[in-house]
Amino acid sequence: MTAQLIDGKALGLRIRAQIKVRTEALKRTGITPGLAVVLVGGDPASQIYVRNKMKACAEAGIHSTFAHYESTLGEAELLDHIRALNENPAVHGILVQLPLPPQIHVGRVIESIAPAKDVDGFHPVNVGALVAGAPGFRPCTPLGCMKMLESIGLTDLAGRKAVVMGRSNIVGKPMALLLLAANATVTVCHSKTPDAAHFTREADIVVCAVGRPGTLTADMVKPGAVVIDVGINRNAAGKLCGDVDFESVRQVAGHITPVPGGVGPMTIAMLLSNTLDAAAHL
Ligand SMILES: NC(=O)c1ccc[n+]([C@@H]2O[C@H](COP(=O)([O-])OP(=O)(O)OC[C@H]3O[C@@H](n4cnc5c(N)ncnc54)[C@H](OP(=O)(O)O)[C@@H]3O)[C@@H](O)[C@H]2O)c1
Repeated sequence: MTAQLIDGKALGLRIRAQIKVRTEALKRTGITPGLAVVLVGGDPASQIYVRNKMKACAEAGIHSTFAHYESTLGEAELLDHIRALNENPAVHGILVQLPLPPQIHVGRVIESIAPAKDVDGFHPVNVGALVAGAPGFRPCTPLGCMKMLESIGLTDLAGRKAVVMGRSNIVGKPMALLLLAANATVTVCHSKTPDAAHFTREADIVVCAVGRPGTLTADMVKPGAVVIDVGINRNAAGKLCGDVDFESVRQVAGHITPVPGGVGPMTIAMLLSNTLDAAAHL
């Protein structure tokens, strides 16, 4: 069996085209959605992510602004900048690109963002809303993974076993909560899980968000399972790759996402979607 690809690039573009139509309609009511992007330091990957996000905004008709600070920026200055963005009515969404330099406390920065403008969905108010099943912004990467599942007809996951590999605040934990909200039976594996394969082999859906190439191999996957690869890594040859051993796993899985062209473009599409929702007060 060779798995069917879930093409995140194509799906992301389709969603972005729909967002553009909704953005144009909102603009006709006098509201231009606005995203404020903040980057501290010169991390090369962060610079690429920020550039791609702003380009996608422009294509969808969403106005974006960019503040780029030196890596020596003090926390108080950053908090002042965020306070001003919170008060600016033209700004509907605020994105502080992570990671931040060590002198800045990431938790305090996230908590300083107005929850109604927290389009990354990292603020404790939005995290709490996700846990409680209340309305709020959902983190873009896990939300993008859910859209990929929906795209292959997996909306209600009742009766399905899902395994999430990784328990970070930005991917693993919210991913597990979204799967749970969709009625899946969810297991979370992490670095202290002695035998993750024991769980993944039983799973109908595996989401891998670890940050290490070759984490999920073919022997760990149930035939026909859906495999979503969140990882973004460089292999020994310097080529972009995910966490999943793509060539072997695609022989066993039913559906699989590629890297690049999988979850990454969906993350951007969900950022635009959250920004539009923030502007429209949805
Ligand atoms: N495509 C996208 O848009 C997108 C967005 C965000 C992140 N990413 C990528 O996704 C990957 C994960 O990102 P992250 O921010 O969640 O990383 P992270 O904060 O480093 O978390 C990695 C998680 O993996 C767990 N882990 C480590 N080894 C493991 C193993 N052998 N089996 C199971 N779990 C294991 C860790 O467990 P402990 O908690 O026990 O340490 C941790 O919870 C990275 O490659 C990142 O670049 C992609």
